[in-house]
Amino acid sequence: MAHRLPDRSKLRLLTKGVSAGSSFFTPAPFVGYAALRHPRAISTSKTSEKPAIAIPTGHVSPPVVPATRAAGTPSASTSTSTSDVVEGQAFAHLTLTWPHEGWNENVLLNVVPSHREPRTFGDWIAWKIVRTCRFWMDLVTGMRPEQQVDSKNPTTAVAAIKPLTEHQWLVRFIFLESIAGVPGMVAGSLRHLHSIRRFKPDQGWIKSLLEESYNERMHLLTFLEMYKPGWFMRLVVLGAQGVFYNAMFISYLFSPKICHRFVGYLEEEAVHTYTRCLLELDHGFLKKWTDPKFRIPDLAVRYWNMPEGHRTMKDLILYVRADEASHRGVNHTFGNLDQASDPNPFMESPGGGIVKAFPKHLSVTRPAGLEREEVISKETH
Ligand SMILES: [Fe+2]
Ligand SMILES: [Fe+2]
Repeated sequence: MAHRLPDRSKLRLLTKGVSAGSSFFTPAPFVGYAALRHPRAISTSKTSEKPAIAIPTGHVSPPVVPATRAAGTPSASTSTSTSDVVEGQAFAHLTLTWPHEGWNENVLLNVVPSHREPRTFGDWIAWKIVRTCRFWMDLVTGMRPEQQVDSKNPTTAVAAIKPLTEHQWLVRFIFLESIAGVPGMVAGSLRHLHSIRRFKPDQGWIKSLLEESYNERMHLLTFLEMYKPGWFMRLVVLGAQGVFYNAMFISYLFSPKICHRFVGYLEEEAVHTYTRCLLELDHGFLKKWTDPKFRIPDLAVRYWNMPEGHRTMKDLILYVRADEASHRGVNHTFGNLDQASDPNPFMESPGGGIVKAFPKHLSVTRPAGLEREEVISKETH
């Protein structure tokens, strides 16, 4: 059915009166992991058929819905059915080979979508490639025109005429994470090989890069607990990985600087995606995920060491978004540095022993990364 779309000034006025539990929307029934793993079984939410509402920009409010299970007890009893718990916990006991360092609440709540303006031709190339990827991502994940944000500010604007559904979000998350796990591994392995064949140390970059790829894979595994990809998604991911891995490998040999800038821009997109999801959660558009009976995967609780009372879907997205913001800051910083000689400023014990490390949270709160002058000046003091 065709919608008659109201103009944006009216939409912004509308949003002032909208909050979670708004009378615009009737709560959808809780369907649990079983339905999420088989998206065709999910009945179409009435949300998608209601009048258009815009999502305003701004900070996300702290999560308030408490979780119901005890810490570290994947099989703890809850009000959800046993089949729901079992079907959505395939990776519940996965060994965590690279524990997460954790984020404090201040960091979690103060991530903002941002865009670092391209300054060089290489930056511009990186940005344009990311924009092209975003276009195809929107297309493949079935985003409709009325679900698009302002095309003039695609990385910072989170207002849309119509929200995405839980199904659309999960498809988007899984595509995004399956791509995002590639560059860190390519860059880390190439720097590893470079160090070996040139008989030189690496300046501490490899750990951050491999940690990033592991972190992205944990994001992917977490969302796979909620969604079972069909053959089309598997085919697209296979093709995308084949192209992207090889393109990144070749590109990194020629210009690691542009590659890190590209990843910085890709992570800007990730922060944007999760911020928009948080706002749509806040506004009550994603009823399944705000249902008090909804359980996030135990894998996520263990990986992020999420405290009791902070284990809702919103909490999970906050953790994932902070990770993406850190990747954004780290890669923009790497894009600003001399690839051969500069140290990784976020290392706790950087090589050479003369660099004082910058605190890790700066990678989150400095969206455009650290400038080379800052890193080098700290090195000389
Ligand atoms: Fe991710
Ligand atoms: Fe990321």
